[in-house]
Amino acid sequence: MDTKFLKKCMKQIKVTNLENEDVEVVNGSPLEMIGKGRQGAVFKLTDDICVKVFGNEEDCEREYYALSLGQQSDFFPRLYAKGDLYIAMEIIKGVDVREYLQSQPLSEELSLKLIHMLITFKEIGYDRIDHHKRQIYLQPDGSLKVIDVARAVWRDRVYPYPRKLMTSLGKKNKKIFLEHVQSLKPELYEEWKYYIEMEDISREIYHLLLDEEPDKEKLRELSDRLLTTSDKKVHFRQLENMMHKVFKEEWVKTMLARGEDPEAVMDKIDEYWEGKEMGLEPTKARKLKGKNKKQGQIDLSSFFNKNAEKTNSLAADSSWDKILKSLDKKKKKRKK
Ligand SMILES: Nc1ncnc2c1ncn2[C@@H]1O[C@H](COP(=O)(O)OP(=O)(O)OP(=O)(O)O)[C@@H](O)[C@H]1O
Ligand SMILES: [Mg+2]
Repeated sequence: MDTKFLKKCMKQIKVTNLENEDVEVVNGSPLEMIGKGRQGAVFKLTDDICVKVFGNEEDCEREYYALSLGQQSDFFPRLYAKGDLYIAMEIIKGVDVREYLQSQPLSEELSLKLIHMLITFKEIGYDRIDHHKRQIYLQPDGSLKVIDVARAVWRDRVYPYPRKLMTSLGKKNKKIFLEHVQSLKPELYEEWKYYIEMEDISREIYHLLLDEEPDKEKLRELSDRLLTTSDKKVHFRQLENMMHKVFKEEWVKTMLARGEDPEAVMDKIDEYWEGKEMGLEPTKARKLKGKNKKQGQIDLSSFFNKNAEKTNSLAADSSWDKILKSLDKKKKKRKK
């Protein structure tokens, strides 16, 4: 390879990245362009060597790194030279799989070669074990080669199955390919099928979340159902429930601070409230539940009953205002 000539040509080619479009190329060199994409343009240097000129250095580094990982394998073009914005590599001949499948069926033999390619991707350490059929070439000897591998490396989020490959195959060939996978390795087929299903579900969830434009009017109407103070009975029940909750929480804290067993304490409280709801005395409630044996060392009943009476006397009062007032009074007394 004539390095001097290559370098001279590289100074005469300017490639610019565009958003969502193939690169823009200004070619003042004698090299013929053989293709281009979003990341670069490819020129024929000799009969066997081409040079891919990039729009930015990072893409160039990335592609070079990905290709260098594959140099021990026959699937990848040989590397010849690298500059900040170009890579000289082997020209891959043959017919790409997209073109091939336009006139040929997807044979089991080709499917197995594609699987072999995926295995190699995994073995050499690619992050994305996947490739578009357009970037896979069938050689005259029947082997496969791939180009455009930059996006297979330096990635942290990838699909857990070869989604790009299968989607690019189209519906019919995807099915055939999966049948070939199934007969080769049922576990692999099951795994991919599982991920495909999970992907479908994820998509459904996304649409559900997206479509769910909250109807504020409707919600405002429905919010009535959350109101609890308009019905006196319901209102009182809520306050009582809240008192149960607070009482239980605080009481457990007190008992725990005294070194009691939390399970036994909770049990005692539940026992008390259940009995109270049935209109029973705590001892009767205990009997009814068959729990008349002593629980551990604790005898909390007197403490509990004493305190429960206080809450009962509050609960018996039909006006919450009065309760608040009486609490206020108590607070003031305490301050004094
Ligand atoms: N080593 C090669 N041998 C032969 N042709 C090549 C080679 N590399 C690239 N090409 C041709 O140049 C075209 C563009 O190359 P490539 O797909 O690598 O560009 P890209 O900008 O990285 O593409 P993408 O936008 O998909 O990332 C290819 O479709 C192919 O036709
Ligand atoms: Mg690319």
